[in-house]
Amino acid sequence: MVQAEFTLADYQAAAQFIQDRSAHRPRIALILGSGLGPLADAVEDAHRISYADIPGWPRSQVVGHGNRLVLGRLEGKLVMVMQGRSHFYEGWTPAQTVFPVRVMQACGIRTLIVTNAAGGLNPDFSAGDLMLMTDHINLPGLVGFGPLRGPNDDALGPRFPDMTVAYDLGLRRLSERVAAENGIGLRQGVYVGLAGPAFETPAEVRMLRMLGSDAVGMSTVNEVTVARHAGMRVLGFSGITNVAITEGSAEKVVNHEEVLDVGSRIVPKLITLLRGVIAQIE
Ligand code: HPA
Repeated sequence: MVQAEFTLADYQAAAQFIQDRSAHRPRIALILGSGLGPLADAVEDAHRISYADIPGWPRSQVVGHGNRLVLGRLEGKLVMVMQGRSHFYEGWTPAQTVFPVRVMQACGIRTLIVTNAAGGLNPDFSAGDLMLMTDHINLPGLVGFGPLRGPNDDALGPRFPDMTVAYDLGLRRLSERVAAENGIGLRQGVYVGLAGPAFETPAEVRMLRMLGSDAVGMSTVNEVTVARHAGMRVLGFSGITNVAITEGSAEKVVNHEEVLDVGSRIVPKLITLLRGVIAQIE
């Protein structure tokens, strides 16, 4: 049986487990999505811990996810990197998918950088683009499948957390500057998080556009909600791996292989950008 509900003691136990295995005490964490794992290999002085070994930690079964936590240095800064994440569509509850963010909180993480693969909804976007997340829509969360449902532990954060500026303005400005300095084109927009795992129908794509979303994916929004509840600063990037299809036709389909393939093309840009941002984070 996998545990479905957690208390502060569970988060602290997992944090202690990690801190017993690594003397690094990072204040910055990264969560890497589908196909974006190679960034974890760039970590120096690395201590690697398999998710399977950390008590309570959910494990992704999705191809392209590395399933380990890496602590070490990037650009001289200590970081905690999650190589792969778990998803709601795998059967995990929202509380299980955000267990790692709570453990980060218990480890003293103050800044969380999230990355994901996403479908482009904005008609200006192309496969291979990189998008700075300016805001999000948590569609399952809006109808009750959010990670903060249930009793609130005031030791973790407030009952009604503010989400007005979920994605830190200072970190967004820093990202724009680093992208410009490195000649990296950076799109900006709203990410809509869905439950998945089926890709969207053309009618759903048209609906999501009307809602004001620029990119669509199946992760991230619960992690960000909990990180904000925990008072962390958040920065997010979407790798646009495909453009969402607005009219059904026999020629165009979306598949996970394409997501991984284009994701691997976005990785070098994202690594440059993340290195530049991390180098200048306070
Ligand atoms: N839809 C949902 N999630 C995704 C997509 C998409 O088109 N591409 C990558 N993740």
